Amino acid sequence: MALKYADRLDEIQPFRVMKLLARANELQALGRPIVHMEVGEPDFPTPQAIVEAGKNAISDGRTKYTPAEGIPELRRAISTFYHAQYNADVPAERIFITAGGSGALLMAIALTMNVGEGLLMSDPGYPCNRHFLTTLGAHAQLVPVTADTGYQLNRSLVANSWQSNSRGVLLASPSNPTGSVICEADMADIVDEVMTRQGHLIVDEIYHGLDYSDEKLRSAVEFSDQCIVVNSFSKYFGMTGWRLGWMVVPESAISGVEKLAQNLFICPSSIAQYAALAAFSEEARSEMDRNRSAFKQRRDYLLRELKALGFGIPVEPSGAFYIYAQLPEGCGNSEAFCHDLLERHSVAVTPGTDFGYFDADRYVRFSYAQDIDLLRQGIKQLKQALTT
Ligand SMILES: Cc1ncc(COP(=O)(O)O)c(C=O)c1O
Repeated sequence: MALKYADRLDEIQPFRVMKLLARANELQALGRPIVHMEVGEPDFPTPQAIVEAGKNAISDGRTKYTPAEGIPELRRAISTFYHAQYNADVPAERIFITAGGSGALLMAIALTMNVGEGLLMSDPGYPCNRHFLTTLGAHAQLVPVTADTGYQLNRSLVANSWQSNSRGVLLASPSNPTGSVICEADMADIVDEVMTRQGHLIVDEIYHGLDYSDEKLRSAVEFSDQCIVVNSFSKYFGMTGWRLGWMVVPESAISGVEKLAQNLFICPSSIAQYAALAAFSEEARSEMDRNRSAFKQRRDYLLRELKALGFGIPVEPSGAFYIYAQLPEGCGNSEAFCHDLLERHSVAVTPGTDFGYFDADRYVRFSYAQDIDLLRQGIKQLKQALTT
């Protein structure tokens, strides 16, 4: 008997980069060294102070359920962080600790979207968001973005794309895959546009802290207390595998998010929460800031080299650890290019088709979450691929 599973699965696409990673690892297991420029996680280990706090959490028996909204100490530490980092007053009651940024995004969507409604988001963008929506019976309303708007939405794109069933907008700044940032003026305009329409604005800030321009990155919490802000301990804090993030919600959403958190997750990982208390220590912050400087150096290197090889990078990525680059003339489509690059030249990069539909065949995403010497090796092999 063939069991039948839910129809929604037909609308959910696999994350191509995971398949690519599996193939890269397979080749590596056969003894072929692979340069990984596909991965979306920092190569640096979790800062030592956090690791120690995690070990202590286990030996101190912090291994039980916690409150669904997270431990009060961590919520307070994040509230203090908003004050120190952004000069913003975000009371701990509005902060929920979550199972990664992913848990926060799922809850933000469950909080705001009814079945059949749509959420505007950029194409290209982080692919899991559209699948969270599908899972809940809602839809991504993808808005193609180009270099002209820094691969981000702005007020007029939001206004012109708004449909009768649109319920809100989801932004990510810095963005995955483009690394681009929404400037202060555009963020203020979008907040105004969405609020005027009484829509919801969800802002994914999980790459905050990994931004490289001299201009200070502003958080959406500074613009309105009605935004939902998603953040994570995965990227700047180097805690991908600990599965911890947080969200800031409007006061009016607190009881709704409490219900969702209790029912969907019971609580975030207790051990990870106690470990994360050390993430705001001076010792951990200085380690993370050293890592950020290394990312900036790698970005500068890779940008220069890719441009010299003929990749089109009209918008300088100023955050995250990605470069979204247009393939040089004559390279074919991005999936075939990535396949060939891995199989014949041992370099793994992600095709643009993982991030949407618009022009995706012409783009690839390079990740520089990799040691600079390996990036140099990758560039050498990429050069060979383009000349043979
Ligand atoms: C833009 C964006 N949002 C959210 C996530 C989810 O991250 P996590 O669940 O590890 O916090 C990722 C992961 O790569 C991402 O790139």
